[in-house]
Order: sequence, then structure tokens, then C-alpha cells
Amino acid sequence: MGGIGESAYAKLYAGWRADPEAFWAQAAEAIDWIEAPKSIFDRNAGVYGRWFVDGVCNTCHNAVDRHVATRGDQAAIIYDSPMTGAVERVTYRALRDEVATLAAVLRDRGVEKGDRVIIYMPMVPQAVFAMLACARIGAIHSVVFGGFAAKELAKRIDDARPKAILAASCGLEPGRVIAYKPLLDGAIALSDHKPDFRLILQREQGPCAIDPAHDLDWRSEIEAAKAAGREADCVPVAATDPLYVLYTSGTTGQPKGVVRDNGGHMVALKWTMKNHFDVDPGETFWAGSDVGWVVGHSYIVYAPLLHGCASILYEGKPVGTPDAGAYWRVIAQHGVAALFTAPTAFRAIRKEDPEAKLLRKYDLSRLRTLFLAGERADPDTVKWAEAVLGVPVIDHWWQTETGWPIVGNPVGVGLLPVKHGSPSVPMPGYDVQVLDEGGAAAGPNVMGSVVVKLPLPPGCLPTLWQADERFRESYLSAFPGYYATSDAGFIDEDGYLYIMGRTDDIINVAGHRLSTGGMEEVLAAHPAVAECAVIGVKDALKGEVPCGFVVLKSGVSDAPAAIEKELVGLVREKIGPVAAFKLALTVPRLPKTRSGKILRGAMKKIADRDEWSMPATIDDPAILGEIEQALKGKGVI
Ligand code: COA
Ligand code: AMP
Repeated sequence: MGGIGESAYAKLYAGWRADPEAFWAQAAEAIDWIEAPKSIFDRNAGVYGRWFVDGVCNTCHNAVDRHVATRGDQAAIIYDSPMTGAVERVTYRALRDEVATLAAVLRDRGVEKGDRVIIYMPMVPQAVFAMLACARIGAIHSVVFGGFAAKELAKRIDDARPKAILAASCGLEPGRVIAYKPLLDGAIALSDHKPDFRLILQREQGPCAIDPAHDLDWRSEIEAAKAAGREADCVPVAATDPLYVLYTSGTTGQPKGVVRDNGGHMVALKWTMKNHFDVDPGETFWAGSDVGWVVGHSYIVYAPLLHGCASILYEGKPVGTPDAGAYWRVIAQHGVAALFTAPTAFRAIRKEDPEAKLLRKYDLSRLRTLFLAGERADPDTVKWAEAVLGVPVIDHWWQTETGWPIVGNPVGVGLLPVKHGSPSVPMPGYDVQVLDEGGAAAGPNVMGSVVVKLPLPPGCLPTLWQADERFRESYLSAFPGYYATSDAGFIDEDGYLYIMGRTDDIINVAGHRLSTGGMEEVLAAHPAVAECAVIGVKDALKGEVPCGFVVLKSGVSDAPAAIEKELVGLVREKIGPVAAFKLALTVPRLPKTRSGKILRGAMKKIADRDEWSMPATIDDPAILGEIEQALKGKGVI
């Protein structure tokens, strides 16, 4: 491995390779166990083996209670909301009290170990209390991002079958209040499963009507529980019991329920805080994401708290709340040591303030490192961030499924040379390889499918929620013995990985993972649409945006422009605003192979203005010209 051969990282990685169980047994010592695991990895358990099968633990204890004695008055959560003007510091002691009380409310209302609880909330401290309260009593939370519409929420309700739903009355987006209650009511009307109750947090920016038959008022329940001195203790759970299920886009409209367990998750996340992110207990860590995404689960909530850090919970945007200096203000005001966000946030800041003039107003001296993930970190943005911040900018690559970095630059172990365009090298735990279509190893610098040799390390998904077979089909069947990441890329002669894009129909819009297949399902359901194809088109701000091509049924008399508008509205209504679906184009025909497969790749190349050549298998070459015309007509190219 060229330049990294003698590095501390190389030694660490070689040590893991030589004895993975010893590596993880040692990492597990950083966790408070109720019963320490004797078995580190059981290859006969679960779909591909399970970690720490006989360990007994509680994640809430490790994230909250264990810190009260040593750092009770230190901030655990710093809630900073330019949307409301609030800045609140929640200490570890206060966090314990809030979480223990909420956990008692849930338990007193019948939520038990193993029950699912859906959390549909914006970036407010109560969302974090809710996650930890579930962890405390062994209930399995499933957080649904606020930008999803009722139908998406309904799909998750039917799959998770929650006993309770915890929601806020509204979320706040710049210039508008998102009323959550109608979305929640709509979702429950659509779903077959009905939760026993809903606990609703009223926000003064947009209160909602409470339905006494189904809804409980969050604050009154908490006040009553506090008055009665009700608190719930941390319950022992098996290390392999699920902590949460987080739904993520699959290749169809049916999301995948990624399962995260308790023991392995704690061990892995705790390990990353020092070794990858180089942050010490007591320091302030900021993941500029949302609790609805995996980055929010891992690096707003669990990892920083497991490590005894103060974690920033930011309800705002990189720009417009109030300006492109918002991130600098938060870093300076709270003394952030490490920031983790998506490249799109930096593209947005750069677009508004190309010379970073606003940065000069703030003291960023405590910021040591910027971490970027969630989508490809384009070298241009990385270089700009390096220049304006004067700190290392570290790209790292992972997925909802893994819960923590697969490939990164382990700053705490020892910073490796940064290569722009590459998230660097595999973390211990991951044997990352690139395979060709036949499953043979691709040589250095040769593109192929990026896979991880089984078993996956602690913290990664052991399976999909109640869907072992779908898990096998989705991830394990393409390359037996390996987990298929569905990313394509190559490894260079120094062992650095380059991720070049997905091999399935997932696209990445502003760091948000979306399924074009799911959008096609919505478009195809419109009565005027005969067939359709959705592709991701390059976008200077969001990385990619979706673009839908539709062929109308013969005899449709409505104007194409009117139908296109309806289709845009339909995706927003069925999937949600987060899909950022604003481009629908009617075309006479779709380009296909002679066997009838839609040539999405060729359409994408044209839309991205990449070089393209006529696919040899195309049925009618003239159709790609029609696609080009349609894109020109809309000003896309
Ligand atoms: N609830 C309701 N609606 C939401 C929402 C939420 N929680 N989050 C986003 N939306 C809406 C937005 O308001 C927008 O609506 P619009 O079509 O009416 O404008 C739409 O969903 C698309 O959102 P987004 O793609 O985020 O675009 P944006 O223009 O609002 O913001 C950025 C662009 C770059 C500023 C924003 O994406 C951002 O801050 N990204 C930072 C990193 C990040 O969050 N990464 C995610 C995981 S690491
Ligand atoms: P998510 O599950 O939402 O985290 O999305 C995971 C997908 O985002 C990966 O499979 C990649 O396609 C993409 N991705 C995440 N991080 C990176 C990165 N650092 N570089 C390139 N692509 C990334």
C-alpha cells in the first residue's frame, strides 16, 4: 500500500485482519456491559453471523446515565435553532431526567421491550429524548424524516407496526410551517396497522388540534409523570436485540427496514469517535444532518453521546437561516471541534458567499477537522473548504446499512495523505474489494462493483426488519460471500478507494438517498401516463436531481404541460418535498434495447452532457435525438 505502508493505520488494519475477534473484543471494553460478551462473533447465528451474542447491555445507559457521575453538568445536547431563535443546553443530568420520564410515560402507556415506536419529528431535543427513551426500555424506534409525505409514512407504519407514534405538531422550513398532524392523520388513514396512541408535542409555531380518542399531549404527560415521580430504569437487552429500524430507499417503492442492534452498534460507534473523527470526551461535535437520516442517528445522537461529547442539534440550513455564515456562527458560538456534513451544504455556502467573506466575522480556531459524507465529495468543493477553513477536509464513504464509515481517513489514528476525489482507505472491520461482473477481483484502477467480504463488522445491519430473504437477495446474492454495496468504483495502487456512482436506481439528491424506481411508480399511476423513466441528472448544488420522462397514452387530450405540472405535484404529494422532483418531460417514446429494456444510462449521459455513443443494442437510434430535444426544450441542457 504505497505511501501508507508504515503508517499507524496500516499497522492497525493489519492487526484487525490478523485477528478480527481480538480487535473487536478490545473495542468492546469501552462499553459498560451488564453481562460482558464471552462470544465475540458467532458465525452460526443470524444470516451471516452475529456479534456479541451473549452480551447484555443497554444503549441508553451507555449514552446517558453512565456520564452523569463524571460529566452531569456538561452539555450533552446543544439545541441551536435559527428557525425559532432558541439556543438550549441540555446537560447529561437533565438528559437523563427527561429520558427517564418519557420512558416511564411510554411504559405506563403499554410500550414494552421489543415494541416498535415511530418517531416523526423535526430537529427538536424531544426527538432525541424519544429515541433514547425507547432505547432505555428496549423498545425499537423507527424515525421517519419530516420531509416524507403521508404515503411514505404509511408504508413505514405498516411495515414496523408500531405500538405508538411520537410526533410534533409541526416542522419548520424557511418561510413555511410544515403541519405534521395532517400528514400523520393521513398516514394512519392509509395504513392497515393502527398504533395504540400518538404522543403529540405542540410547538408554538404551529400547534394542532388534539384528538382525545387517539392523541396524548406530550407536555401534560411529562408534567404528570414528573409530578408523580415516575421514571423508568434502563432495562437489560441482548446485544443482538434491535435498537432501531431505519427505513431507507430500496430499488422499489417499498423502503428497506435497516435493523441496528444494541451491542455491536455501541462498540463500533464508540470506536469511530476517537479513531476516525479524532474527538475526545467533553468536546463539541456537530453533525449537520437530521435525526431522520442515518447520519443523524449515528453522529447527532448515539456516537457523540456514547463518547461523552456535547452534540449540536441544529434546526436550520447552511444558507438562508439567516445567511451563508450560519455554519461559521454555530462553530464559533459552541466551540465545535469537528463538523460532519454533506458536500451539498458547502456547495450551497460557496454559491452564496464564494469568497467566504462571512467567515471573517467568526473565530473558528477550535475547529480541527471537517468531515464530508453522504454523496460524492467533488474535489472542487473539497479544495474550497480546505482553503477557506484551513483545516483537513476528510471525505468518508458509508451507507445507512453500515451505520458508520466503511472507508475513511482515520484522523485519530494518524492522518493519511488526502487524495481529492477519494474517501481514502478501508476502516478496520471492512475488507473492501472491487469485483468484475463475473465476481473476479478487478485490478488496481479498474472499475467494478464495490463489495465487502463477509462478515460485516459490528454495527452493520444483521438483516432487514422481518425480511431475511429480502436481505439475502438485496445484498448477499450478487456476489456469494460478499456484501454488495451497490456502489461502483475502483481501488488505486495505494489502496485508496474511489466511489463513482450507484449500480442500481438509487440517486443522491442533496445528500438524501432516493429511489428513482419509487418515483416511477408514482408517475406510472397517473391515468394519462403510458410509460415512464426517472433518472438522476447532475446538479451543481444538489449533486443530482431527479428528471422524469413520460410517454402519454394515445388519445390523452390534456395539454402535456398541464400533465407535467400534475406529475410534479403528485411526486411531492406521494413521496414528499424531499424528493425535489421538479422536472417532468413528456416525450413521444422512450429509448429501449431490442429486448425492451429502457436505456436510462444513455439518457443520463445526454442529460449530464457527458460524452456518449449510440448503444449497440438500441432498437431505434432516432429516439435518443428526441430525448435530447426534450431536454433542450426544458433548458436542462
Ligand atoms: N420537512 C419538510 N420539508 C423538508 C424537510 C423537512 N424536514 N427537509 C427538506 N424539506 C423540503 C425543503 O423545504 C424543500 O422544499 P421546496 O421544494 O418547497 O423548496 C425540499 O424538501 C427539498 O429539500 P432539499 O433538497 O434539502 O433542498 P433545499 O433547497 O431546501 O436545501 C440544501 C438545499 C443544500 C441547503 C440542503 O439540502 C442542506 O442543508 N443540505 C445539508 C446536508 C444534509 O442535510 N444532508 C443530509 C444527510 S447527511
Ligand atoms: P445513505 O444510505 O443515505 O447514507 O446513502 C449511501 C450512498 O450514498 C452510498 O451507497 C453512496 O452511493 C453515497 N455516498 C455516501 N457517502 C459517499 C461518499 N463519501 N462518496 C461517494 N458516495 C457516497
